[in-house]
Amino acid sequence: MQAPDNFELSRRNFLVLGATAAAASQLVSCTSASAATAESASSVATASLQASGSLQVNGKMYPLPTDTRTTLLDALREKYRLTGTKKGCDHGQCGACTVLVNDRRINSCLSLAIMHQGDKITTIEGLGTPEKMHAMQAAFVKHDGYQCGYCTPGQICSAVAVLNEIKAGIPSHVTNDLMTKVQFSSIELRERMSGNICRCAAYSNIVEAITEVAEGGA
Ligand code: FES
Ligand code: FES
Repeated sequence: MQAPDNFELSRRNFLVLGATAAAASQLVSCTSASAATAESASSVATASLQASGSLQVNGKMYPLPTDTRTTLLDALREKYRLTGTKKGCDHGQCGACTVLVNDRRINSCLSLAIMHQGDKITTIEGLGTPEKMHAMQAAFVKHDGYQCGYCTPGQICSAVAVLNEIKAGIPSHVTNDLMTKVQFSSIELRERMSGNICRCAAYSNIVEAITEVAEGGA
C-alpha cells in the first residue's frame, strides 16, 4: 500500500507505531498516577506534621506548636519566650536546657513538645522570681554558684530534682548499698549533677549552694 506522502506502511511499521503509541499513553498515565500519589503522600505528610493542643508551663496554658517536630526547648524559648531555659549543645550533652516535667528533670532539647500534653512543666521562671526566689536560687546567689550564668537555670532545675530524687530513695550509679535509704553526700551530688556542665567551672560554689539547701540551711 502506498501512502500519499510516499510513506510505505508495512505490517512491521504498523506494529511498531502501535506499540510506540501504547507505550506513550502508558507513560502519560503513569506520570499522572505518580503525580497524584506524590501529591496525596505530601498532604498526608503535611497533615501528620501539624498538631493542636496545649502545654502547661509554670501553671499557665500555652498553645502547642503546630509543627510536631518542635522540641520542648524550642517551644519554650521560641514560641513562649521563656528564655530562661538555655540552649547549649542541643544534643543532650550539656544540661543547659534542663527543666522539670512532673517534678522530674529532663533535657528539653531531647524531647518533643507534643509529648508533654497533660504534663506539668516547670522552668526556671516558674521556680521563683527575683523578689521571691526558690531556696535553691537564693543559695546559688549566696554562694556565687555561677560566673557567666549561662548554665545556671539548668543547674538549678537539676539541683532541685536531685534533692527530690535522693529524698525519694532513687539510687544513682555511685550508690553502694541499695538496701538502705539513699543518703545525700558529696559523691552522690557530684554524680547526679554530672550531666550539667559549667564552662566557667563554678563547680565548688555550686556544690556549696546545693549542700546548704540539702542540709536545710537555705
Ligand atoms: Fe540540651 Fe545541651 S542544650 S543538653
Ligand atoms: Fe558560666 Fe556555668 S556559670 S557556664
